[in-house]
This record gives sequence, structure tokens and C-alpha cells, in this order.
Amino acid sequence: MKKFFYILTLAILILILISCKLIQRSQSAKEDTLVDNMIYSNPQEKGLGEIESIIEYGHRAVIGAHFPIFEIDHIDSITRDMILSTIHNFKTLSKDSSGNNENYKSELNIDYRTYEITNNIVGVEFTILEDLSTYSQPDVTTITKTYDLKNKKPIQLEDIYLDEIPIIVVSSQDTSDIAYEEKNTTIIPGPTRNIDPTMPMVALTFDDGPNKNTTIPILNTLKEYESVATFFVLGNRVPGNEHILRRMHSEGSEIGNHSFNHKRLTTITSSEVKIQVSKTQDAIMEVVGTKPKLMRPTYGSYNDNLKSQIEMPMILWSIDTLDWKSKDAEKVANHVLNNIQDGDIVLMHDIYGSTADAVKVIVPELVNRGYQLVTVSELYESRGETLQVGNIYNSFYKK
Ligand code: NI
Repeated sequence: MKKFFYILTLAILILILISCKLIQRSQSAKEDTLVDNMIYSNPQEKGLGEIESIIEYGHRAVIGAHFPIFEIDHIDSITRDMILSTIHNFKTLSKDSSGNNENYKSELNIDYRTYEITNNIVGVEFTILEDLSTYSQPDVTTITKTYDLKNKKPIQLEDIYLDEIPIIVVSSQDTSDIAYEEKNTTIIPGPTRNIDPTMPMVALTFDDGPNKNTTIPILNTLKEYESVATFFVLGNRVPGNEHILRRMHSEGSEIGNHSFNHKRLTTITSSEVKIQVSKTQDAIMEVVGTKPKLMRPTYGSYNDNLKSQIEMPMILWSIDTLDWKSKDAEKVANHVLNNIQDGDIVLMHDIYGSTADAVKVIVPELVNRGYQLVTVSELYESRGETLQVGNIYNSFYKK
């Protein structure tokens, strides 16, 4: 009898243990699906925070990094530190590996997407691509950071999952409002422009934007002097900056394509090239109602293969201000004003305050010297040129 009770107690104990395990398992399964839903049911491309970019050109290596800024010092400095240390490590590695092949250009590309977990808790997923001559193929890593915007600090994912899961409500309405200001596309008419084809003219071009703090002052200067320019924009910088694109277009400036996230186009597959171009075409089309007809390849690099893939003329430049390197308004302005001639295409970047300041000097002085500041399309049309798809153009001098 004693033995029977012993076995019964043991059996009951085992039963309790098994059911506990089962409950635990079903709960964690529930957690997993909730987590999956939160992250994937409502993905938001660049919806939260402002996008900041670091783009550097070098003989041995090129860098294009994009990351979100939330205007919260503690969080932003964590992000910046991570990006800067990744760039620093990459530079060291590319220096070390450059001995192997003089002609090899290493590349670092960092991009991200944000998603809302709860009202004030956001996730940022960074995708880091490193292409070094020592690697047989590019190395891609993903890093996820979670930030509590209300309490202004980074958090571990587990902190939220433990006690906040039952109250998570992700409203697709709320978040899509943040991601895109307006969904409906209207074709914005450009102004009628009077250009005298017999008078000297040049095209100022700005790459890597748009960027609120620097593109808007440039547009203000252009407007003040009844001038226009061409902006070769990145597709990933379109969300949140729609009003800037609309303004460019309505004031007569031209919008060109500069890839989606500044990947070096000569080293990626043709299907990746296609995505880089078409995602940007679509993003711009959605905002201004027309697609760009000109492409500027990232880092100005191209080869025969790329020329056969890009279904647009490719526009380079005849004056390189190196504004990204000097970040010195006076140097940039002097370089343009000392070298400019009729038919030039000038390369600048509308993501630097120093460039916006240089434009304040360049535009009035060129207008004063009798130049018409036109878009690239206005320039080649005035010179009676027809551009060929896949060809490279640096300037349109009078023949
Ligand atoms: Ni660029």
C-alpha cells in the first residue's frame, strides 16, 4: 500500500511537471509570434527619426553610411559612436588589405530601417556591408538596437518582452502617417523658364540629399536669384523629405537619381543595380509625379557593364569642388569661381552646411558675371544635344 501511494505521488508530480512545461512552451510560442508580428507586420522604412548620412570618397575605399537621429543626445551619441567606430575599423582593415591589390576599392555601406515596438520604443536594424579585397565576397552583418525614446535610453529587448507584451498595440494608421506625409501622387507643374541659349550657362549639381538643414538653405539661395540646380537624390532619403522634393520640382530644379542607399554600383549584381535604380525612381515618382531621366552613379564610378544596365544617360561633372573633403565654404566657393566656364557641370553635396554657405557666395557671383544657372537638362537642350542611354556626360561646352 505504501508503495502504491509512493508511485501515485510520483506520477502526479510528473504530470504537474509536464503540464508546467507545456504551458511554458505555449507561452513562449505566443511570445515568438507576437514579436514576429510586431517587427514584420508593420515594417517601416526610415519612418522614425531623421536620416543622417556620412559619405566619403577615397582612392582605396568608399564609404556610404546612413543612420537615424532622434534629437536625443544620449541615444544619438550611441548610434554615432557605433557608426564612427565601424567606419574607423573599416578604414584600418581596408588599409591593411589594400596591399594585396592596388586597383581594388573597398566599400563600406551601412543602411537601416526603423520600426515601432510600442509607442515610445523603437527598434533600429542596421545592415552593414563590408567589401574588402581580402574577402571573397562582401560580408553582411545585421545589428539591432532598441531605444526607449520616452526615457531617452537604450534598452534590451528582454526588458520589454517580459512585462509589456500583453499591451502591445501596433496601429498601422499611426505609423504610416509618420512614414509618408502624403500617399496620393499629384503631378506638380514646374515653372516656365526663359533661357537664352546664346548666353553662357552652367549647371550646379548637388548629390546625396535631400537633407532638411542644408538643402532648404540652398533652395532659398537659388530662389532669391531666380536660379535652379539639379539634385541627384538618394531614394532612402525621400521619406520624411517629400516637401523638399516638391519644392525643388515646383521651383524648376531638376531631380536626378543617385541610387537608393549609395551602394557602389560597379560591384553589385545587375539585379541589385536594378533595385537601387527603380526603388529611387518609384520613390521620386510617388512624390512629384514624374520620374528622373538622369542618373549620377555613386562615387562617379562606372564600367561597361554598368553602362549597359542603366537605362538613363549618366551625368558626371567637369568641376569637382571636393566639398565633402574640405567642408570649407570659402575653399568651395573659390574653387568654383576660379574655374567656371560656359557649359560646366559643378559637383557639390547638399548634406553639408559649408556647401550651403558656399552656394550663398557662388550663386550671386555667377549671376553677376552673366551666367544663367540652369538644370542639366536645360543645359544640354540649349546646346542642341540629345543624350544617349548609358552614355557618360561631363559637360556641355559650346561647339
Ligand atoms: Ni554620392
